[in-house]
Amino acid sequence: MRVRHLGARAREIRWRFTHTRRTRGLGAALGRLLAVARRWAFFRGDCFLYALPLAGRVATPPTDSPLTFREVTPADLPLLEKMRSPADALWYGLLLKRGRTGVLAFHADRPVAHGWFTAEVDLEIERTYVPLAPGEIFLFDLFTSPPYRRRGFQRALVRWMLALAGERGFRRALSLVAVDNEPSVRLHESLGFEVVCRFTKARVLGLTRFYFHPNPFGPRGSLIRWM
Ligand SMILES: CC(C)(COP(=O)(O)OP(=O)(O)OC[C@H]1O[C@@H](n2cnc3c(N)ncnc32)[C@H](O)[C@@H]1OP(=O)(O)O)[C@@H](O)C(=O)NCCC(=O)NCCS
Repeated sequence: MRVRHLGARAREIRWRFTHTRRTRGLGAALGRLLAVARRWAFFRGDCFLYALPLAGRVATPPTDSPLTFREVTPADLPLLEKMRSPADALWYGLLLKRGRTGVLAFHADRPVAHGWFTAEVDLEIERTYVPLAPGEIFLFDLFTSPPYRRRGFQRALVRWMLALAGERGFRRALSLVAVDNEPSVRLHESLGFEVVCRFTKARVLGLTRFYFHPNPFGPRGSLIRWM
């Protein structure tokens, strides 16, 4: 498994290098490669771990949305490749094989946004780690195509995913958001998510460690940003 994961990662890095060289030149491609190596050698980043109970208000699919939604199937990989990149499509193929649920949103038959959730988190697959209790799901890789942003599409998509998870008997959704990702922080808070803890991911020479710092301000802690 580890070998397959490393193979997929290597293909992804090679694809990104070639693509950046073609579109932005050799300098940019080398710069990007250096950034990947630097992140492998040392990386430290902070996220908020958000949670939302799936009972009640948000576990209702939006009825007033111009979008249609459906679960991702392997036949959608070319669509996802167009929205994101061939390297991402490789990853989405792996997610489907490992039973993760993806949802696509369409506007006038065009794919405009997607998101994923899972009931188990594997560092090798999700590339992050969150401890899940039975009945919990982890939302990840929420994405809206740039021309369609700020139209409420991701909020509608997340509500649809939460409704789907609620129907399947899940009772709580968790999500990780980089502390400086203002659009995503606001999106989560507009949906009623609250901060459970602050979470630090640190990597030194390929070894990854996670640190959880419980929210010292209780359930309303999302109102207060602490360092
Ligand atoms: C974060 C992201 C998914 C939001 O998608 P979106 O479809 O534009 O979001 P919505 O239009 O549904 O916005 C819902 C709410 O989120 C907040 N929001 C979204 N984009 C915002 C921005 N650029 N600045 C500030 N707030 C923003 C607002 O509160 C918004 O509600 P409002 O428009 O009524 O004020 C999108 O910006 C994206 O794909 N970013 C890159 C990938 C990413 O960072 N994903 C999140 C990983 S955790």
